[in-house]
Amino acid sequence: MKIPFSPPYVDQGVIDEVMDTLQSGWITSGPKVKALEDEVVKMTGTQTAVCVNSWTSGAILMLKWFGIKEGDEVIVPAYTYSATALSVLHCGATPVMVDIDDDFTISPEKVRDAITSHTKAIIAVDIAGWPCDYDALNLLINETAIKDKFISQSEKQAALGRILLISDAAHSIGATYKGKPAAQACDVTIFSFHAVKNVTTSEGGCVCLNLPAPFDSDEEFKYLKMFTLNGQTKDALTKSKAGAGSWKYDILFPGLKINMPDLCAALGLGQIKRYVSVLHPRRKEVAEQYCEAFNKYPWFISPPLLSASRESSYHLFPLRLAGVTEDQRDWIIDELMSKGIAINVHFIPMPMLTLFKNLGYDIKNFPNSYKQYACEISLPIYPQLNYVQVEYIIDAVIEAVSLQLKEPQNV
Ligand SMILES: Cc1ncc(COP(=O)(O)O)c(C=O)c1O
Repeated sequence: MKIPFSPPYVDQGVIDEVMDTLQSGWITSGPKVKALEDEVVKMTGTQTAVCVNSWTSGAILMLKWFGIKEGDEVIVPAYTYSATALSVLHCGATPVMVDIDDDFTISPEKVRDAITSHTKAIIAVDIAGWPCDYDALNLLINETAIKDKFISQSEKQAALGRILLISDAAHSIGATYKGKPAAQACDVTIFSFHAVKNVTTSEGGCVCLNLPAPFDSDEEFKYLKMFTLNGQTKDALTKSKAGAGSWKYDILFPGLKINMPDLCAALGLGQIKRYVSVLHPRRKEVAEQYCEAFNKYPWFISPPLLSASRESSYHLFPLRLAGVTEDQRDWIIDELMSKGIAINVHFIPMPMLTLFKNLGYDIKNFPNSYKQYACEISLPIYPQLNYVQVEYIIDAVIEAVSLQLKEPQNV
């Protein structure tokens, strides 16, 4: 049996949206992007949503929007995909890495220790779709002593008057925090709509705002839209409309060129409409099937999925194996791969990657990130997986882990 890791969900509804766009005569940013943004606002209950061409460009956009530059620090977890820290480097600022807690999310206590007078933002990552401890992070950034340390150096920083809390929600569209969409728990939430994500536009992302007064979300939306289009006063659709002087435009500031095309938005639109009825419940069922089968084994460490205050988007199923070394884990992955099951590891902690090693980050300073990484295996989880396929994966995992724990192989 061949089981891919995370194929895109493409049903007739998705195909119809894409065909409709192709036949409409308009394929770049236009009505489909607007419709997708409306759906995201409806789903998250945030103030506004701006679609972009990736999570990474959305993060660079928001760091630049906040005026983050050389000399500034942004706190990120060591355990995440490199884009979280790369977005900070692209703004000339320094990513300050901190360790995670046992649920994979950034440790609020470690964040506290890392805050300095240069700290401008925190990017908290909802690994696998599990929301971070946003109450603890919000309390922290609003503490008087922490606010007193904050030095504002831009108009937006002066308006906020404290550290900006950004959620790297690349995995967590649909996750909830205290009964509400998790995107309402921080200032800025950025989703990824990359090809392997739970909602995809092939490549893409979306920035959602949840800013306190005095920010005006309509004004910020207009400004951010311009920022995604080279700082240009009119988008291509507006310019293409008939009317005297409609072709005229101005460039107000050096923006980025990171807008999402309608052709991509159509894909996401077809999917997001199925999110509540199909995509989320089917992922949850697969996770439950895994948990039910693995629960009886002492080596099974369940991923965080559901608690009184949080529910995952079930984007990934990060299985962890108690008592297994990194080499043993690697052997188990090879075994599963040899049976046609596509596997990934989320994540290789950033301090283990060459770029970050060369910048001086050392995995020894992030022991829990290493510990979680060394025993982690991400199993396939997506709506199209059927019961028999999941059983096949379960049997293969049990066999490989039992073999390895009974008689360590080749390690
Ligand atoms: C946690 C995390 N953050 C950011 C990203 C970057 O997303 P994108 O590829 O849309 O830029 C990813 C993508 O895999 C991710 O997993």
